[in-house]
Amino acid sequence: MIKVGVVGYGVIGRRVADAISAQPDMDLIGVVKKKPDYKARLAIAKGFSLFSVDNEGTKTFAESKIQVSGELKDLLDKIDIVVDASPSNVGATNRKVYENYGVRVIYQGGESPEIAENSFVAQCNYEKAKGKKSIRVVSCNTTGLCRILSSLDLNFGIERVRAMIIRRATDPDDTGKGIIDAVSVDPIKIPSHHGPDVNTVLPNLRIITTAVKIPTTHLHLHTLIISLKNNKTTEEQIIDSLSDMTRIILISGKDGFKSTGQLFDYARELGRCRSDLFELAVWKDSIRIIDSELYVYMGVAQEAITVPENIDAIRAISGGYTREESIGMTNKTLNILH
Ligand SMILES: NC(=O)c1ccc[n+]([C@@H]2O[C@H](COP(=O)([O-])OP(=O)(O)OC[C@H]3O[C@@H](n4cnc5c(N)ncnc54)[C@H](OP(=O)(O)O)[C@@H]3O)[C@@H](O)[C@H]2O)c1
Repeated sequence: MIKVGVVGYGVIGRRVADAISAQPDMDLIGVVKKKPDYKARLAIAKGFSLFSVDNEGTKTFAESKIQVSGELKDLLDKIDIVVDASPSNVGATNRKVYENYGVRVIYQGGESPEIAENSFVAQCNYEKAKGKKSIRVVSCNTTGLCRILSSLDLNFGIERVRAMIIRRATDPDDTGKGIIDAVSVDPIKIPSHHGPDVNTVLPNLRIITTAVKIPTTHLHLHTLIISLKNNKTTEEQIIDSLSDMTRIILISGKDGFKSTGQLFDYARELGRCRSDLFELAVWKDSIRIIDSELYVYMGVAQEAITVPENIDAIRAISGGYTREESIGMTNKTLNILH
């Protein structure tokens, strides 16, 4: 059994903790949280051992009558691997502590790529993570892009990619930020950081991305324009090859998927915890080839898409399984459609 701890019990940490608990080869030893709020009480109600960040945190928890099992350092003493799901850039601060305790680390996409030895998407570079001390599961948008682009590149060859990412403003539980009645172009940065982030996983891909934010909380929407090396490729061939890819589902406007709203509604019917959609959802009827360029729309469920990647990252860094074995086990335990 791989002994794992999760540092940060927010959007990503809570989901990863549940996913670890569902694995037959992993033991969730505990989770770390800073504030003594309802999420801390939920962790305890689920039977998870809760740890504070430090001594100060332990006092804060005690004042709220929440019993912790120790501090971060006590958790690090008991585990082989830590999944750092703390807020962006906090992982960089925690890094020294992890190194001192000699644990292997999985960071998230909010950290800069330099924090870890490799950036990771299971389908693209699972084998590269074997034996590493630290890897970084890339962000939700980068994960979605890497899943589809690695598959298209393998089957048809990609000349270049242009992508526009229409981002949800914030997550549903985050009322402290967000836009209400505007489309935000902030930060104005062309290309956006997503393309270079894809290159941390797929270094040879020519990709330029732009991004804007809109006032929604569920899902990002991407529009891609892809020049393929094989200019005889047909729309049917693209659909066939994507249908075979794990963690990609094809949806259709004809079936009533006309917005991210229906996609979220569909996810609620899958019977998964928190309506999580782990798959990348590609609109089948958006797949068009015009003037030798491939057009695609796709939806990325930002809270969930990196969860299976974190589970595969734990196995990859531990070195015990092949990519196919790990993806198969993760898909089965998380009820991923195919
Ligand atoms: N949200 C998304 O859609 C999404 C998608 C993909 C990747 N990511 C990446 O995943 C990472 C986590 O993001 P998130 O959205 O899950 O953040 P989040 O919801 O804000 O959760 C962060 C968690 O870390 C805890 N924390 C705060 N300070 C800490 C410290 N010093 N040491 C340890 N833990 C600390 C927080 O505790 P308290 O709640 O007690 O303050 C909270 O439980 C980021 O790198 C982010 O970029 C996020």
